[in-house]
Amino acid sequence: MLTPARNEMLTRVGRGTPMGELLRRYWQPIGGASELDVNPIKPLRIMGEDLVVYRDSSGRYGLIDRHCPHRRADMSYGWVEDNGIRCSYHGWLMDHTGRCLEQPYEDTTNPKPSKASCAVKAYPVKECAGLLFAYMGPLPAPELPVWEPFTWANGFREIVLADVPCNWFQCQENSIDPVHFEWMHDNWGSRLKGGNSNAAPKHLKVKFEAFDHGFVYKRVREGQSEQDRYWTVGRVALWPNGFYLGSHFEWRVPVDDENTLSVAWFFMRVPKGREPYVQERVPTWVSPLTDPSGRFITSHIINQDIIAWAGQGRIADRTKENLRSSDIGITMMRSRFFEDLEAIAAGKEPRGVIRSANEAQCIPLPNMAREINTEGLTLAEFDNEPILRQRLREFRHHYGQPPEVRRAFVEAMGIAGP
Ligand code: FES
Ligand SMILES: [Fe+2]
Repeated sequence: MLTPARNEMLTRVGRGTPMGELLRRYWQPIGGASELDVNPIKPLRIMGEDLVVYRDSSGRYGLIDRHCPHRRADMSYGWVEDNGIRCSYHGWLMDHTGRCLEQPYEDTTNPKPSKASCAVKAYPVKECAGLLFAYMGPLPAPELPVWEPFTWANGFREIVLADVPCNWFQCQENSIDPVHFEWMHDNWGSRLKGGNSNAAPKHLKVKFEAFDHGFVYKRVREGQSEQDRYWTVGRVALWPNGFYLGSHFEWRVPVDDENTLSVAWFFMRVPKGREPYVQERVPTWVSPLTDPSGRFITSHIINQDIIAWAGQGRIADRTKENLRSSDIGITMMRSRFFEDLEAIAAGKEPRGVIRSANEAQCIPLPNMAREINTEGLTLAEFDNEPILRQRLREFRHHYGQPPEVRRAFVEAMGIAGP
């Protein structure tokens, strides 16, 4: 249980709030590079700031204020040129550093050195593994962490986005909550398909360990032992707002205090014999969350998670909760955030910010699936791996995979479609 003031500290993300300042010190994924293939400008709201991300005609990314410095028109209705983005109202041109390069009428009739005062805010953007990452904190920016899975070859990758109607922190608490798998995904999942018992293997023990880049959670369920990878390796609550499960990442990126952009990156290695496989373009798609009646879609794993997150309210009221031993990881995570918030207040760097380019190049994480993802399996061997076998049949994580993404996947895997 938290006091209202402590709950606010964890959840508020605007500029100048303690958590807003903490999260801005890390590169945040804001979408997929392939989103900009059709329209090179995308409006987005991140941590309470209205922005546009764009790729100009020379291939350079920019992330700047959504509103033009002239009279505040919406830059997402502008267009890109070789060196920036132009407003469609009176043609002012801005570059990726936020400088105003051209003011066409003034440049023609009244040229004065007045552009400096028209600069807008601008943030660095980098592409990695098909994702776009933005850095909105104090400069100099740290290194962009290249997590080891981003370096894997011979895999089909896809990026899935979802607009989640609640605060980011309750989404992130789900990254350190092993027991919900038994109930939400197994027992409820089975009931949604017509089952009528709570027969999923019970959790017998859980433990949580801190490391440089977050926490690892481990578990033993009925039918498993301490020799199982779920106990010897575990899964990662990635600091500060990610989740890493061996073959995919999820990030919970604050849109504002009451909304979150869920960004998920998936990797599936092609079967042995299908190499070399080079994916030209990492597709990005948005998962719908509700059905026509307005109820949440329950059929897919992360859709189920989202029901839990949003069901806690726009901002979960942690003054009313009752934590138990299953929630030790959640308490550890909150404590570490409070420690890092204090560190920032004292002028120090929070944990997990990487300043060494060498270190950032390929960062290993505890990984239950490394061999499968780096060495691969034959198609026949997939039969011994229930999760992978299922993954070949259908995309179970998010509802709404577009048919063209499925077709590309089927082709990459060399299996019968669709
Ligand atoms: S409002 Fe953008 S150029 Fe005038
Ligand atoms: Fe879950």
